[in-house]
Amino acid sequence: MTTTDLNPGAKKTLKIAAHGVTGRMGYRQHLLRSLLPLRETGLLLEDGSKVEIELLILGRDQGKIKELASKHHIAEWSTDVATALTDPSVDVFFDAATTTMRPDLLHRALTAGKHIYSEKPTALDSATAISLARAAAGSERTSGVVHDKLYLPGLVKLRRLIDQGFFGRLLSLRGEFGYWVFEGDTQAAQRPSWNYRKEDGGGITTDMFCHWNYVLEGLIGPVRSVDAKIVTHIPQRWDEQGKAYQVTADDAAYGSFELEGPDGGQVIAQINSSWAVRVHRDELVEFQLDGTEGSAVAGLFHCVAQHRANTPKPVWNPDLPVAESFREQWFEVPDNAALENGFAAQWQEFLRDCLAGRKHRFDLLSAARGVQLAELGLAASSERRTVDVPEIGL
Ligand SMILES: NC(=O)c1ccc[n+]([C@@H]2O[C@H](COP(=O)([O-])OP(=O)(O)OC[C@H]3O[C@@H](n4cnc5c(N)ncnc54)[C@H](O)[C@@H]3O)[C@@H](O)[C@H]2O)c1
Repeated sequence: MTTTDLNPGAKKTLKIAAHGVTGRMGYRQHLLRSLLPLRETGLLLEDGSKVEIELLILGRDQGKIKELASKHHIAEWSTDVATALTDPSVDVFFDAATTTMRPDLLHRALTAGKHIYSEKPTALDSATAISLARAAAGSERTSGVVHDKLYLPGLVKLRRLIDQGFFGRLLSLRGEFGYWVFEGDTQAAQRPSWNYRKEDGGGITTDMFCHWNYVLEGLIGPVRSVDAKIVTHIPQRWDEQGKAYQVTADDAAYGSFELEGPDGGQVIAQINSSWAVRVHRDELVEFQLDGTEGSAVAGLFHCVAQHRANTPKPVWNPDLPVAESFREQWFEVPDNAALENGFAAQWQEFLRDCLAGRKHRFDLLSAARGVQLAELGLAASSERRTVDVPEIGL
């Protein structure tokens, strides 16, 4: 079946060309957790029918990509991305490789009439991300960007509480993301070294603010202004070969965001993102949302809540040790549904959108807003001021 043959009712197979699947994200979350299981089960559609998923994996290193294909019994692999981009049997082009190559590859895939799905960020600067969003908006195909955090069980439950009116008037959100990333000298670093090189697309702000933008939009509302202190705490690290290098990118971003809440009122968010922090939390990312009627804390998996009616009345007294366990005063929000891996869940939604010929809710414009927020956060920090976030028109 070819890309010109997109009658949703008739489509029986969908072929995905996946680029960057030897990488951390591309391999673990996309290939292992999402695409290989889908190839096994097929994609179940809303009408109960199934579409088969075919894979073509792409990478620059022939040895690695061939080995990966053989390990997972993937018949089609190639190092020739240019040919794959114009291959008429390919329906969807997916990119999880280096961010620096991404805009060009996505533009070419759009021009070739492919559906495109991409890791974030779609580009390293907002002008390029907006130009991609324009090209995608002008295409008849479906485009999407990975917004995995909103599919995390913890955040799904937080969103459910918001939909149920649990919070009353929303007041503020506080987020903590991060963990200690080893420098790489005595213990190997658990993140790739390009993350710490600006010239290779690194930096925690570029990496995380595009996540925070869709998390804030998806839970509360659009970000209207940003203020941030962005720093490099650890100036020297050791790369994958054990060689010392100077860090040229930021490794911690302390951001404040002014949001427009669901009722048009102001909601304040503060999110710390750091690769130089030690964890004294239950999960590697946690968000506390406070409202007049209740509060909740959500991580990747769990979400606990405390209603106004169950709120204790602590009294400040530094002379007495704490006599109550504050954590025990929250109740666990139940799953009440099978909540699967966020990457896999979004893949399925995206592919169903492709087959139905509809827009994916997390499109390249949403991606561009994320890139813009990172850019403005960096500007706010270097200029030491609060920066307004303009709406992007296409
Ligand atoms: N959604 C998320 O939570 C999340 C988390 C981490 C990374 N990411 C994004 O995923 C992408 C990959 O990040 P990662 O952490 O997996 O990095 P990684 O270094 O582990 O993987 C990078 C991949 O790109 C390929 N690559 C690098 N340079 C290339 C080149 N010149 N030509 C062809 N291929 C090349 C590598 O072979 C590898 O497959 C980045 O855009 C990153 O922002 C997303």
